[in-house]
Amino acid sequence: MTNKAKGSDKFAIINELARRRGFFWQSYEIYGGVGGFATYGPLGSKLKQNIEKKLRDLFVNRLGILEIESPIIAPSKVFEASGHVNHFKEPMVECLKCKKRFRADHLLQETGKISVWEIEKMSLKELKAAIEKHKIKCPECGSAFGEPKRFLTMFKTMIGPYSKAIGYGRPEAAQGIFVEFKRLYQIAREKLPFGVLQIGHALRNEISPRQGLIRLREFTIMDLEFFFDPEEPNCFLLKDIKKEKLRLLLSEDKLKGLEKITEVSVEEALSKGYIKAEWQAVFMVFAKRILVELGVPEKKQRFIEKLPWERAHYAIQSFDQEVFVERWGWVEVSGHAYRTDYDLKRHMEFSGEDMRVYKELENPREKEKLTIRPVMAKLGPDFKSEAAKVSEMITKANPEELERSLNKKGFYMLGKYKIVPEHVEILRQKILERGKHFIPHVVEPSFGSDRLVYVTLEYAYRIKEDRALLSFPRDVAPIQLGVYPLVNKDGLPEKALEVHKMLVEEGFRVEYDDSGSIGRRYARSDEVGIPLGITVDYESLKNDTVTIRDRDSWKQVRSQIKELPDLLNKFFQWKINFEDLGIPFDN
Ligand code: ATP
Ligand code: GLY
Repeated sequence: MTNKAKGSDKFAIINELARRRGFFWQSYEIYGGVGGFATYGPLGSKLKQNIEKKLRDLFVNRLGILEIESPIIAPSKVFEASGHVNHFKEPMVECLKCKKRFRADHLLQETGKISVWEIEKMSLKELKAAIEKHKIKCPECGSAFGEPKRFLTMFKTMIGPYSKAIGYGRPEAAQGIFVEFKRLYQIAREKLPFGVLQIGHALRNEISPRQGLIRLREFTIMDLEFFFDPEEPNCFLLKDIKKEKLRLLLSEDKLKGLEKITEVSVEEALSKGYIKAEWQAVFMVFAKRILVELGVPEKKQRFIEKLPWERAHYAIQSFDQEVFVERWGWVEVSGHAYRTDYDLKRHMEFSGEDMRVYKELENPREKEKLTIRPVMAKLGPDFKSEAAKVSEMITKANPEELERSLNKKGFYMLGKYKIVPEHVEILRQKILERGKHFIPHVVEPSFGSDRLVYVTLEYAYRIKEDRALLSFPRDVAPIQLGVYPLVNKDGLPEKALEVHKMLVEEGFRVEYDDSGSIGRRYARSDEVGIPLGITVDYESLKNDTVTIRDRDSWKQVRSQIKELPDLLNKFFQWKINFEDLGIPFDN
């Protein structure tokens, strides 16, 4: 989120429509509501499922990425290893009078006077000074704030009735993948590259969420961890998409205070070093396409590169995919991080499990092996009765590290023992390496379902002749078809119910509506974004035809009932257009 609230009310309109028509609303309303929690109603949960299905269709079905489901709670060790216990913190200030707490960085962003990246760089002291300089007061009661603090935004719990068995709610689904890496690698037939996707709830104890679905304390995350050999980083999908353009806002321009978009092809972004990993560039293209398919034009999207201090602790490069929304400005919908071997390495250190993979080399290569041997003739006089112990410690030490320290500092500390060059003999042997052990590298695209739901709704919202309609892309619309009898008499409802039953049995998501006038029914269906309305009229009784009405143009065509399943399947798979569904019909 980069900009301050900008007066436009689309956000309020969407939230009102969502509540009234059962897309989503704030949870626990009967107890006054709790910020940062949302409940999806029938239309919203279907919309969310359809959006998630889109990602599954692409990643799991087409790219063969493995999908898993792991627990939301993990023992603290997992998040100590991942670095979250130390790093997953946000700056917070408390109002001295009403005691309400706020994100210090967000309050500063809302002034619109300092860029996000400048704020992210600030120490607690600098945040305090900036809050004072810009005379920021409590949004609730107008009083001054106390000292900023860093607040750990993970939910802490205990596992079982043991207060020492600390657990955390996961702030990302990624760790559920990393901790299972060894087994997943076996499932992937011990071949790189491979990817694993997890779609599930994530918990973040956000400090003062005030942006509906955009900032929740419990939300759905779609984390895809893609593992590859850093010595073979080439992406076999690149050839098909290397000409595709990406809109980047690069670090170098951010530092100059420019909001300049660099529009480059994928191959150019890679050759110029704007994007470090091929696989990352490819996932950024997929992310862009997904958003276009959800109704967000390319011009309303951008990938903003994070500066080193803005990046998560595990990333050496990251881009946020942002979408422009009217009220909040640029909002992140997915993050693209090059996590290298950081996570697996840390889990290897903390768990003691070997997370390395072994790969036979196609061409065995000559390698130099370093061995450090203790020299007893020198260790004996220097360490006396402890010489044997020190000698054993030398043989177990990391030879590269030992040699480096001897060269640089002239000594190496093994616990309390000071080793100097005379204590050791350094041997170099040439060996033929037939295979290699290494920790794979990871690039991660990470999407938030709820933010995708919000932007899909905002970009689908239209006003036509004073009526609101949700022009959802046809494959994500929660309900695909409305079936209506023109009037509620003369056998029309019976015929319409037959059509409804047939379409349900064919697997379509269909609504039957016979209440109020046909005009009212069309208006209601447009407002929840049903792409096609099928109306049974007097002619239907004579010749087994119906009219099909297009939500967006309000045009109608006439078609044979028996042809509907085939035609509609093609329509929802984007193989034909509305005009191909029948003969134009003017009522
Ligand atoms: P932000 O800077 O907006 O807090 P983030 O950088 O912390 O987001 P990531 O950690 O990259 O977000 O999480 C991946 C995705 O999860 C984001 O791109 C976003 O779509 C979604 N997401 C993150 N936090 C929330 C939240 N509190 N509510 C809803 N979705 C979220
Ligand atoms: N994926 C965001 C984080 O956990 O840091």
